[in-house]
Amino acid sequence: MLRPGLVPRAGPAGFVGREGELSRLLGALGGDARLVLVVGDAGVGKTRFVTEGMARAEAAGMVMVRGECLPLTGTLPMLPVADALGELGRRSGGDLLAAALDAAPRYVRDEVARLLPGLRSGVARADDQAGEWSRERLFAGVAELLAATAARSGSAVGMVVEDIHWADSATLDCLTFLARAGRRSEVRVVVTCRGDEAPLAAHVAGWMAQVRAGSGVAEIRLGALSRAEVAGQVTALAGGPVPPRVIDELYARAEGNPFSPNSWWRPRWPAGRGHGRAAGPGRAAGPAGRAADGAGGAVRRRRAGGADGAGRRGPAADRGPAG
Ligand SMILES: Nc1ncnc2c1ncn2[C@@H]1O[C@H](COP(=O)(O)OP(=O)(O)O)[C@@H](O)[C@H]1O
Ligand SMILES: [Mg+2]
Repeated sequence: MLRPGLVPRAGPAGFVGREGELSRLLGALGGDARLVLVVGDAGVGKTRFVTEGMARAEAAGMVMVRGECLPLTGTLPMLPVADALGELGRRSGGDLLAAALDAAPRYVRDEVARLLPGLRSGVARADDQAGEWSRERLFAGVAELLAATAARSGSAVGMVVEDIHWADSATLDCLTFLARAGRRSEVRVVVTCRGDEAPLAAHVAGWMAQVRAGSGVAEIRLGALSRAEVAGQVTALAGGPVPPRVIDELYARAEGNPFSPNSWWRPRWPAGRGHGRAAGPGRAAGPAGRAADGAGGAVRRRRAGGADGAGRRGPAADRGPAG
């Protein structure tokens, strides 16, 4: 089990700040919280934060799996839960999942196979498709599987679902179910959600209001990084000292948002002035300024309440939709 207060260091180099928030996350995972909300604007660092938190929780003995919601035009119910269970299935060459399924009640395999068709031995059953009862049985199957995983591994299990501002209602209901089931087992749910700057879909806003009003819920709000933290990140990315005036400019333009290495190292300046890896900030203020334009521009567009997709894109815009 994760012991409260045990916060080992791990994770990719270059992670800066957020130590207080990480302690809260680890404390919540090792304590009474069954659901942790991580809330912040697009590009503020939610994904990086939970990645760091997952690494530290795993180093402290937890099993952590993750799935993410996508900005789809239609709905793919339960996509992030299926993703997370798929990740569980790849742990220890599949042994962890196999052992948990063996230990769980018999119906669990059939239910989990609805999300992981690879587990299915025969053809789909007729009752696979519809009905509230069928949905509840699916949620119960997922909860039983995670509880059995926790029991088998002798550690708490955490399911992280990213970007629930894009979640379908089946996923949100499943998370409610898991958080409630977590009262009886060592299952924890962590979600990331965009801040309140743009209106959430009604079903997501309703879910957030409902869980915030409930017990066993911790909320961690991620705000802007400090100048010193941005300086630390930029220095790590540059691999050496960076002139203070460049840091001032980057900090001002990105409005405290951390930098994406993508926007940093692939600046958008006219061909012929540079290619491949960009000159670092210590070597050329031009590319740094242009990279910062990219970041700050995204932030400004978002604050201006741009169209849905653009509005969600932060400094990491060039690596796909930011959460
Ligand atoms: N604390 C941090 N230290 C270093 N880099 C960070 C930090 N937080 C975010 N970043 C970087 O900033 C970019 C945007 O962060 P990300 O986690 O994707 O934001 P979000 O999920 O909130 O949209 C990423 O390239 C990420 O690696
Ligand atoms: Mg994200």
